[in-house]
Amino acid sequence: MKSNFFWIVFLVSLAGSSNGFSQISLHVKPNEIRSTVSPQMWGIFFEDINFAADGGLYAELVKNGSFQFPLPFAGWKVNKPDFKDKVLVVNQAGVKNGNTRYVRITKSSDSSVYNIVNEGFRGIGLHKNAGYTFSIRVKTISGNLRMRVEVLRESGQSLARGDITSLKGGWANYDLALTASDPESKGILKIAFLGKGVVEIDHISLFPVNTYKNRPGGLRADLVAMLDSLKPGFVRFPGGCIVEGHTLASRYQWKKTVGPKQERELSINRWNMEFPRRAAPDYYQSFGLGFYEYFQLSEDLGAEPLPILNCGMACQFNSGEVAAVEDLGPYIQDALDLIEFANGAVQTKWGKLRADMGHPAPFNLKMIGVGNEQWDEQYFERYRKFEQALKAKYPDIQLVSSSGPSAQGNLFDYAWSQLRDSKAGFVDEHYYLPPAWFFANARRYDQYDRNRPKVFAGEYAAHDKEEVQPESRNTWQSALAEAAFMTGLERNADLVRMCSYAPLLAHVEAWQWRPDLIWFDNLRTMATPNYYVQKLFSTNRGSHVIPVTLQDSVVAGQDSIYASAVLDKNQNQVIVKLVNIARKAQKIEIRIDGLPPDKFQARGTVLSSSADLAFNRMNNPGVITPRETSYDIEGGVLASEFPARSVQVIVLQYGSIRR
Ligand code: AHR
Repeated sequence: MKSNFFWIVFLVSLAGSSNGFSQISLHVKPNEIRSTVSPQMWGIFFEDINFAADGGLYAELVKNGSFQFPLPFAGWKVNKPDFKDKVLVVNQAGVKNGNTRYVRITKSSDSSVYNIVNEGFRGIGLHKNAGYTFSIRVKTISGNLRMRVEVLRESGQSLARGDITSLKGGWANYDLALTASDPESKGILKIAFLGKGVVEIDHISLFPVNTYKNRPGGLRADLVAMLDSLKPGFVRFPGGCIVEGHTLASRYQWKKTVGPKQERELSINRWNMEFPRRAAPDYYQSFGLGFYEYFQLSEDLGAEPLPILNCGMACQFNSGEVAAVEDLGPYIQDALDLIEFANGAVQTKWGKLRADMGHPAPFNLKMIGVGNEQWDEQYFERYRKFEQALKAKYPDIQLVSSSGPSAQGNLFDYAWSQLRDSKAGFVDEHYYLPPAWFFANARRYDQYDRNRPKVFAGEYAAHDKEEVQPESRNTWQSALAEAAFMTGLERNADLVRMCSYAPLLAHVEAWQWRPDLIWFDNLRTMATPNYYVQKLFSTNRGSHVIPVTLQDSVVAGQDSIYASAVLDKNQNQVIVKLVNIARKAQKIEIRIDGLPPDKFQARGTVLSSSADLAFNRMNNPGVITPRETSYDIEGGVLASEFPARSVQVIVLQYGSIRR
């Protein structure tokens, strides 16, 4: 009898503790709207780092096709065993600007072998049966030279081939359509000269036909598709430290990135030698992806463009070189002219250039960043000059100002003290910190002063180390930490109006910085767990913040749970984001006010892993991927078991909520 009683008590206690799980009760209040969520809340930060532009998003497959690198044949091999055959680099510097070099080829006999070979960006990627357009600019000086163009495997196997014959006398462009017989990620391009004679060549290029929107000379379609899936609210470009340069001479100058592509002047990429352990001496900016293309991409993605401009300061981690305050005129003029380029009438100088490039309609630029990650007095005396001039001419343009490189400390506090009463619309905060900081800082913005400029969380990423290599990785733990922190961003969407993970893109063989949101090689792309977290938030952005509480407090770490909730008035949805960082599944009840008593379902998406240091790899991209699920709701309560170390988005159609 006694033992029966024991078993009854034990079984009842198990049932009472929900099969061994403790019960957590959250309360969502759809009728208590707290603020709007900006349509620009979740955006993307693009910087040409990790071969994100040349060798990445910009789909050009030939490296140094115009011989503009400091070493004219960087990326090329010239094979001409016969000493009578010649190669000559001609430089027109002083006679013209922009692209100043071309190459003269002299082939002395029909029988000699003469070819030049390009290595591409860590190889040339070809997709089976896909079309490619080879192009070259040629002038025949004498003789009857012809060209055989081939993409080959390193083994010598030909994958695509065509000939260019009947060359004209003067400079002319020649296109050749090629089709790849097999896939290859490490191809090389060979141009063999046949016959005898002298030609001059320039602007050698190979592009996939299937670029984004099939634009000739356009962007890699698969990478843009990854960006498009995020439905970004804004695109910040072109960085990042690349805006600043090591010295002012190597700063990013937008005017050099517009106009005819072939005439854009090459510039060193500041990530070329930044980290000696990841040196990339072949990293230059061709600006095939320039400011016009950034505006166009923003428009294509339905995102607000957010250009960041140099403010007369080179990177303070490097030279810290500045333009004297009284010499800021040209820098400020660049900013004013950019607004004219983006928005000006086609009769204006810069509006006309935009129209000539193919976009007579304005790009509708609404905001501009003054400097990237600058700090201290030297920044604010320069920022104020920009603010004065920009606001005088364009009072409606929102200015983004910097708070420096750290999330707290003297320089950070000083920055905010300077900006408190400024006309800055947004203050850009950056934090690259360990996961623990993100978990601990989910309440960061709860107490921020609301009478100051809005916050732009412009660069953030949780930096986690994998076990075997002391390098930061896109681990599951880093994504989980970002998700927990992002519930705090969302809860404070009245103040934090824009957010972007950084950096965005990285080539697996050519990176300088990690972790990064999206990885790619010459043929493939790979989403990280961090990408899936960003996507869960950005594609479930909602329109209004509503409270979600645990015992009347915001949910920011109690019982290892983080949560935020929004209403989407356009889609008629209540959306709850819930992060369980416990190492066990937790049973959680979510009471949602205003629901009818009957039983129905909500849909959801789950990301989870029990391995904190797990990450996706190019050859194994499915280690951490989202999984669709559904939840039962009855009597106004959603009760479910939420897996250990998980991020969930719960979407409930609220047609049935009493309001
Ligand atoms: O995102 C990488 C770098 O981090 C950015 O270029 C810079 O702004 C920050 O220091």
